[in-house]
Amino acid sequence: MAWITGDRVLLRAWERDDVRIRWETDQTPDATELRLRDWHGPPRSLAAREAEFEAIDPDDESVVALVIVAEDRVIGDVRLFDIDRRNRMGRLGISIWRAEDRNRGYGSDAVTALVRWAFRELNLHRVELTVDPSNARAIHVYEKVGFVREGVLRETHYAEGAYSDALVMGVLDHEFESRLQKRREEGAPSVRQA
Ligand SMILES: CC(C)(COP(=O)(O)OP(=O)(O)OC[C@H]1O[C@@H](n2cnc3c(N)ncnc32)[C@H](O)[C@@H]1OP(=O)(O)O)[C@@H](O)C(=O)NCCC(=O)NCCS
Repeated sequence: MAWITGDRVLLRAWERDDVRIRWETDQTPDATELRLRDWHGPPRSLAAREAEFEAIDPDDESVVALVIVAEDRVIGDVRLFDIDRRNRMGRLGISIWRAEDRNRGYGSDAVTALVRWAFRELNLHRVELTVDPSNARAIHVYEKVGFVREGVLRETHYAEGAYSDALVMGVLDHEFESRLQKRREEGAPSVRQA
């Protein structure tokens, strides 16, 4: 398969050039941006990122990491990780790299497309994620797709001198399909049919 299609985005495999684009978008002094993206991870050079990219095991079936393409350019990335075949579950992460590309519908479309693919093609039963409870936009997007709030992990992240909680959200295959059907009936955009 070359890519996964949404209504407005394509999801495709990472290429080496994408690593540089991602690194360039990270070169910002904006503290809010850095917090949203990395939870204050240490600065990493382009060379380190490229070496990490080269070291990725293409046969690792526990991860599906993809870039998001819109308007013929790469705007972010989305991934399923910790994929557990026995329990048919995986964890999701997403980032739209530049502030000017957010709030344009791309993130919702990318999450919808990847979750749909996870259920219909990978045959997962559950997709989960954690999110900063103060990240209202991300939580809104996840709820729109069908994720529900399942609980709070207390003080799991240390940043800016303080611990913060993580909200756990999850969606089951039948819940996602019901939500998709409802959105279709309401005439809202949804991902293309297989
Ligand atoms: C979170 C993220 C992936 C969402 O993608 P996006 O392309 O910006 O989202 P969309 O444009 O598809 O949808 C945004 C929705 O949030 C709503 N929204 C925007 N700001 C909001 C806020 N402060 N509170 C609640 N909802 C908000 C918009 O109105 C829109 O809702 P609608 O589709 O019902 O009209 C993206 O903003 C991002 O990468 N942010 C920085 C990194 C991050 O937070 N990653 C997630 C970590 S868990």
